[in-house]
Amino acid sequence: MNFERYQIKSYSEYLSKYKKSINTPDVFWEAVAEHFLWHKKWDSVCLGDFKNLDIRWFEGGQLNITENCLDRLIPTHKNKVALYFEPNNVETPTRQYTYQELLDEVCLFAHVLKNNGVKKGDRVCIYMSMIPEGIIAMLACARIGAIHTVVFAGFSAQSIATRIEDCGVSFVIVNNAGIRGEKKLYLKSIVDTALNLVSDKQLVRKVLVVKHTEDAVDMVSERDIWLHEEIAKVKDMGLSFFPAVVMEAEDMLFIMYTSGSTAKPKGVVHTVAGYMIYANYTFVNIYQIKEGHVHFCSADIGWITGHTYLVYAPLSAGVQSVLYEGTPTYPSPSRLWQIVEKYKVKSLILAPTTIRMLMTYGTKPIEQYDLSSLKVINSIGEPLNESAWDWVHNHIGNKHAAIVDSWWQTETGGIMISSFAGITPSQKSYSTLPFFGIVPILLNDFGAKIRESNVKGHLCIKQSWPAIVRTNYSDHDRFKETYFSKFPNYYYAGDVAMKDKKGFYRILGRADEVLNVSGHRIGSAELENTIASCEAVIETAVVSFHEDIKGEGIYAFVVLKPNYKDYLEIRNQIIDKVAQVIGSFAKPDKIQFVVGLPKTRSGKIMRRILKKIANNDIENIGETSTIIDASVIDDIIRNKQS
Ligand code: WTA
Repeated sequence: MNFERYQIKSYSEYLSKYKKSINTPDVFWEAVAEHFLWHKKWDSVCLGDFKNLDIRWFEGGQLNITENCLDRLIPTHKNKVALYFEPNNVETPTRQYTYQELLDEVCLFAHVLKNNGVKKGDRVCIYMSMIPEGIIAMLACARIGAIHTVVFAGFSAQSIATRIEDCGVSFVIVNNAGIRGEKKLYLKSIVDTALNLVSDKQLVRKVLVVKHTEDAVDMVSERDIWLHEEIAKVKDMGLSFFPAVVMEAEDMLFIMYTSGSTAKPKGVVHTVAGYMIYANYTFVNIYQIKEGHVHFCSADIGWITGHTYLVYAPLSAGVQSVLYEGTPTYPSPSRLWQIVEKYKVKSLILAPTTIRMLMTYGTKPIEQYDLSSLKVINSIGEPLNESAWDWVHNHIGNKHAAIVDSWWQTETGGIMISSFAGITPSQKSYSTLPFFGIVPILLNDFGAKIRESNVKGHLCIKQSWPAIVRTNYSDHDRFKETYFSKFPNYYYAGDVAMKDKKGFYRILGRADEVLNVSGHRIGSAELENTIASCEAVIETAVVSFHEDIKGEGIYAFVVLKPNYKDYLEIRNQIIDKVAQVIGSFAKPDKIQFVVGLPKTRSGKIMRRILKKIANNDIENIGETSTIIDASVIDDIIRNKQS
C-alpha cells in the first residue's frame, strides 16, 4: 500500500490543506475516501449537522472494513507481517501473522460465528486480554457484520452484565484466562458470574472460549463452546474463505462503553465508513507511515485507543503491529525497551501514566537498549506534563524522535488535536493543532467564543467529522443531552483547554465530573453510586486530586450512618465494593469519613471546595457563604488525609 501521496509533507502543506478541509469538507473527505475498497460508492459525503443531529457520512456507500484492512492488502502484503505477538512471559514463544495468515484466521473465526448463529447486526461482547485472538475476534465480527462491544478485561462481572443488558448482547467471546505480569486473570469465570447477574437468562445464547492458558474452566453445556473445537469443525466442513458481508456506510461497527457524568456508562456508537476513513487518515498522516513501518500501541484493545490505533488504523495502512500481552514492568522495567529494540519499532503509543511510572525507575533500565529505530512517540489519554515530556525526549526519543501529544476521546473515534510527527511543530504540554476537518473552539461558561490567547475555556467542536459518535446505543436523547445541550450547535467535549498566540491548543483536564485516573475515564457519579450502596454509607462525594504517577487519584469523602464506627472494616468494604461493581482500577486512593458534605441551599454538593481540599489548596477555597453548614468544611480540613 502506498500512502505517500496521501500524506502531507510539510507544515505549509498542512496549513493550506487544513483550510480546504474545513471550508469544503465534502470535497476533502471524498478525495480521501477514494483510496478505499467499496462495493458501491457513496451518494453523498456528509449529511446532517449539529442542529438536527442525524449525522451520516458516505451515505449510500457499501463496504466492509475487514476487506479494507486485509483483502485489499493481499496483492502487496500477502507475506508481510501484520501482527507480531509478544507474550507476557519472555520464555513463551512469540507468534506472528502475515496479512494472508490474519485474513485466513479471521475467515475461520467468522465461519465459527456464523455456524453458531451470529448474524449481521447482532451484538457480541468480547472480554479478552491482549492476545491475537482478541483482534481476530473483533475483525471476525466486523467481517460478518456483527457489532462488537469490547469490555476491558479489568472490568468486573457487574460491569460486564450492565453492558450486556444495555445493548442486548447474544454472544460472548472470552479467553479462559489471561496473564499480565505476575497476575492471572480468570476471565471465563468472571463472565460466568456476569451471566448469572444478567436478569434475562435467554439473552446470551453462547459463550465462545479461547484456550489461552492451561487453566481449567467450567463449561456450561449447550451454552459454552471451545474455539479450537469449533475451528476444527469448520475445517472438517471444508470451509476456509469467508466472503465479507456487505455493510452500509452507516451500519454500526462497534459500541464502546465509556463513563460520563451520570451513573450509567453510555454506549458510544461508531459506524463503518466514516470511522474507518478517519482512523486510517489520521494514522497515516500523524505517524507519517512509510513502507515497512513497525508500530507498537501499548494501549489495551478494551479502550478506544486499542480499537483505532492497534487494530483498525494500522491494518488498514498495511503496517506491522506489535501486540504485547503483559505489563511495562514485567519481568523488569526494561520490557518495553526490549520490545522496541527487538522489533525495531518506529512508532510507540504510551499513556502519560506509564511514562511517569517508568520514570521512577530512572534511566538504567533503558541504557543497554538501542532505541534508535523510534521516530514517533505518541502520548494519549491525559495531559503529558513537562517533566514527562523531557524524560521521553531525552531518554527514549534520544532527542531525535518526534513527541506527539494527541488529544481525542472515545466519542471522536480518532485523534482530533495533535502535531504531525516531524512535519508540524511539537510543543511541550501542547497537543498543538487540529487535524484536517476539525474546527475546535473555546467557549466561556456563557457560551461566548473566547478570542484572546491563553484564556481557559470549554473545548468544543464546531462541525461534523467522519468519525464522530453517531448516537448512544438505544438512547439518542442522552446523546443529544450529553454532547450538544450545554452549548447548542457545538459538540461539547467536557475538557478545558486554552490556545496560545500561535494557535496551539493545550488541554488542561476535564471540566465535568469525570475523573481521569491513569488514563481511565471514571464517572464520579458511577463511583459515588457504588460507594453509597455500601450498608454503612449515607452519602459520598468523589473528587480527583493530583497524583504524581496516575495523573489523578481518587479521593472519596464519605458520610456514615450513626453507630457505624469500624472505620478500617468499612474502608475495606468500600474498596471491595468498587472492585466488584466497577473494577479494581477504580478503587479510591483516599477515603475520608466526614460528618457532612458542603452543600448549597438547593442541596448540590460543592465539589469545587472538596477538590481544593483534596489538592491541599486550602487558601484558595473561595466563597463559602452559599453553604448551609460551613462548619463541615472545618471538620473536613482538620481530618484531611495526607
Ligand atoms: C483525556 C482516550 C490531555 C481528555 C483517547 C479526554 C487527554 C479523555 C489527551 C478521553 C491529551 C485524552 N491531553 N487529555 N493528549 N487525550 N485526554 O474517551 O480528558 O478514554 O476527554 O479516550 O481523556 O478519554 P477516552
